Amino acid sequence: MGTEVMAPLLYNLVRFTRPKLCLEIGMGYTSLFLAKALSDNRHDFISGRENVNKSLQKISSLSKFNSVSESFSKADKSSRLRFLESPPYLADPSYYETDHIGKLVAIDDLSSENTSASEIKAALAELSLSDHVNLVNGTFQGKAKGLKEKFGPFDFVWFDCGGMKEYDEFFSEYWDLLDPDGGILILHYTLTNTSMGYIRQKIELAKANGELPGIEILSLREPHKMMQNSFTMLRRIDNFSDQIYNEVRDISLERDV
Ligand SMILES: C[S@@+](CC[C@H](N)C(=O)[O-])C[C@H]1O[C@@H](n2cnc3c(N)ncnc32)[C@H](O)[C@@H]1O
Repeated sequence: MGTEVMAPLLYNLVRFTRPKLCLEIGMGYTSLFLAKALSDNRHDFISGRENVNKSLQKISSLSKFNSVSESFSKADKSSRLRFLESPPYLADPSYYETDHIGKLVAIDDLSSENTSASEIKAALAELSLSDHVNLVNGTFQGKAKGLKEKFGPFDFVWFDCGGMKEYDEFFSEYWDLLDPDGGILILHYTLTNTSMGYIRQKIELAKANGELPGIEILSLREPHKMMQNSFTMLRRIDNFSDQIYNEVRDISLERDV
């Protein structure tokens, strides 16, 4: 299905952005990479939280403060520098305050005989990744409302299913499911063909004329391939701005002076 490079890229994007709730429409090779990334995020979270708590106890008495980020902010500058230089390096204590378990909801109606979608359940079990995945056997159309009610907004969505009609239906029905607080949507194969290219242009036009305010858009192409060779990534930031940590940056720069 031409996702031999896309799948490891998705793995790394999930490792980078640490989503809690992922949605995949159109299962296959990519499903395993998404599930593995969520599993690796979970392992990192558990060991990271243990180390963060140990390091914070060295720089302050946790019991004196309400939260780990508060104990960090109350510590003196040299203690904070020591904290940043202990594993997990450069940690943001607030990330470790609430439990982090990632889940993937993966939908496929098994309508295509040419994909590996039907083998994914067994492959997930063999790789001990089943706990991270809810498999949904059926068409994606008509499921957005129920998914939002059951799981809440999704912060990472990967769409790889059908042609112009399906992409259009997906976009109309599923946009509200994407978390406005930084949710990421990736649409496969949006360049070098006019069908999904039309959907990409429609999104770009909606952004330009103000119908979709607060989105960032990037499309990338694999120049060595004639098809299945591209994606468009959107970040939804209607309600969102990245936190600023200038003070921490100043502390870490002091060491360099
Ligand atoms: C391009 S393949 C997915 C490839 C997969 N991401 C990979 O990396 O191998 C598209 C999949 O979408 C499924 N599909 C097609 N129409 C669908 C629909 N309306 N609802 C849900 N799944 C559908 C097909 O059964 C097929 O497995």
